Amino acid sequence: MSENSNRVDVGIVGAGPAGLMTALLLKRRGISAAVVERRSHAEIHRTQRAGILEAPTVDMLVDADVDSRVLTAGHEHEGTVLSFDGVQHRIDFQKLVGRSVWLYPQNEVFHDLATAWIREGGQIHWSVTDVEVHGVDSHEPRITFFDADGKPGQIDAELIVGADGSRSMCRRLIPEDVRTDYFTSYPFAWFGILCEAPPTAPELIYANSEVGFALISQRNASVQRMYFQCDPDTDPEDWSEQAIFDHIQHVLGGPEAVALKRGPIIEKTVLPFRSYVCDPMTYGRLALAGDAAHTVPPTGAKGLNLAFSDVRALVPRVEEFINGVKEASGTMSPVPVSTEPLQRYSRTALDRVWKAQNFSYWVTNLLHRQPDEGEFAQRRRRGEFDAITGSVHGQAYFADSYTGWSTS
Ligand code: DHB
Repeated sequence: MSENSNRVDVGIVGAGPAGLMTALLLKRRGISAAVVERRSHAEIHRTQRAGILEAPTVDMLVDADVDSRVLTAGHEHEGTVLSFDGVQHRIDFQKLVGRSVWLYPQNEVFHDLATAWIREGGQIHWSVTDVEVHGVDSHEPRITFFDADGKPGQIDAELIVGADGSRSMCRRLIPEDVRTDYFTSYPFAWFGILCEAPPTAPELIYANSEVGFALISQRNASVQRMYFQCDPDTDPEDWSEQAIFDHIQHVLGGPEAVALKRGPIIEKTVLPFRSYVCDPMTYGRLALAGDAAHTVPPTGAKGLNLAFSDVRALVPRVEEFINGVKEASGTMSPVPVSTEPLQRYSRTALDRVWKAQNFSYWVTNLLHRQPDEGEFAQRRRRGEFDAITGSVHGQAYFADSYTGWSTS
């Protein structure tokens, strides 16, 4: 046994929002957890991800009692703007469905959760290497790894949660003859920038024109986040600052439509697009959560929100499973512990995953130009856009999906 060896109820692979939120909510229910993470705290904190939190996600952060700054540093958005060929339409979320979203970047969500977990004395191993999960089809699953100093470590648990992101190692522990991988790809990507300038507009603008899609988002009073549709093979260095802003301005419909606030670009990245679902999200004593089980294209910012909805479904089922383990260990002749609660988790989570897959796919195809798009396809998209923006029912469909449906 090494000095890093120990026993907990739940071993968690991955300290992104899914892994940390699971760890914290389990602790609230008296269930112990330990987390291992390949990256360092600093590396995750500086990685830009999406910035929009659905109402149910904000509720979870607030209810988790982690001192999140979402309500103080985040910004409530009661609506968003959809723009087609320079003509803008506001979708009033509050009026349509009585909910808002919050602009609060994912790396800040991570920071809140990591700070709370550490403050509360939670076990976490950052910058680990050679993480392996063993025995998920036995009653003694465990995680082995080398810690940041190169010392071997081991976590023995009753259950493993795989929250290790879109290139998940845990997912591959579900045998191929048990697992169905649903997948689709897209012929475009997003070019994302951060620039030092105040917000262009009070709310986000999702814009579409004959040269494709652009999104004007925000980070704070002096930094903006923007994206535009590009070829997946684009080299960010091929685009000058001027060319980037001119292109986005063109998608917005020229400065008469909205005058883009420009400023020094401090980050440029190309984000790939894919849609993926792993079904089931559990196998034996392994349960997947977040990007490990599914990825969505970024349009509509469903990724983090889906990770949180997984956790919301997962935590009570883990509690049920761990209670079963504890009851069985108190009996004279141990009985096999049913993993049925975990299968129920998978079914519940997948219902919402497919709703979000549909929304992300639909809004992506509504607002992006296909590389080989003809006049008919372009006009048809315009018709679809008008059907959404031109009717209170269409607007309500968008608002209901974007703000995160009701969870009851
Ligand atoms: C952001 C990203 C998104 O994908 C989106 O739909 C909205 C906002 C963002 O990074 O701010």
